[in-house]
Amino acid sequence: MQQAIAVLDSGVGGLTVVKEIMKQLPHEKVIYFGDTARSPYGPRPASEVRHFTRQIVDYLLQFNPKMIVIACNTATAVAIEDIRARVSIPVVGVISPGARAAIKMTRSGMIGVIGTDGTIRSQAYETALKQITPDIQVYSEACPLLAPFVERGLFSSDRAHSIVEQSLSPLKDKPIDCLILGCTHYPFLMESISQVMGPKVTLISSAEETARDISTILSQRSMQTESNEIPVHQFFCSGTPTVFRQIAENWLKEYISFMPVVWQVP
Ligand code: SIN
Repeated sequence: MQQAIAVLDSGVGGLTVVKEIMKQLPHEKVIYFGDTARSPYGPRPASEVRHFTRQIVDYLLQFNPKMIVIACNTATAVAIEDIRARVSIPVVGVISPGARAAIKMTRSGMIGVIGTDGTIRSQAYETALKQITPDIQVYSEACPLLAPFVERGLFSSDRAHSIVEQSLSPLKDKPIDCLILGCTHYPFLMESISQVMGPKVTLISSAEETARDISTILSQRSMQTESNEIPVHQFFCSGTPTVFRQIAENWLKEYISFMPVVWQVP
């Protein structure tokens, strides 16, 4: 199948998932949409996030993709079932893969979760984790300041480090051995998060496990590409492309040739 995998996020966070798709499935074409004009989704009401997600999916469907990947935790938490009910192609989110990866990794059965207000409020991680292991102990913390910082491309600054420190301080004394980065933006801050949490806490990004899910679904349904070429991926963002382009080129440069297109979201 030569159709693309369509990936969406509120902004640049989903690029962390795209990078894993490119690594694990190098011949699959990706069409990416980052809703940078309306990012962050975290503080928005669930109904609004569902509406935005529908709009973007409708936009992406014009490219006849073979799969939709909701590479945004906030949108996965509140919109994935709605999107699954609306389209006839597979829809993959990032919460179940992240929860699965954490359960595989934990030894103590005590897991931390950080995410946006929307994701933490939805309790989607607690639900997913407890579905796999009912007696797991979950410590959740909303970190609303982090995703907007990443969107501005400021993830290596001292200021970013001190915001990470401040945001994670409630988790520092918790007996967790794994921390789920429950927002696809957070892997951009991996270095700071790892320094703050220390070597005893394993950081779990759902990107790797999500790409594995995508691969499994494609092969189970015989939907893999037959091409051996390295595809030209397509990137769209709803805001001005300058920062998006910089971040994407920096993050993905080894893997893609980059061509942003601006689409003003209605
Ligand atoms: C946000 O837009 O607030 C972050 C996206 C996410 O939850 O992954």
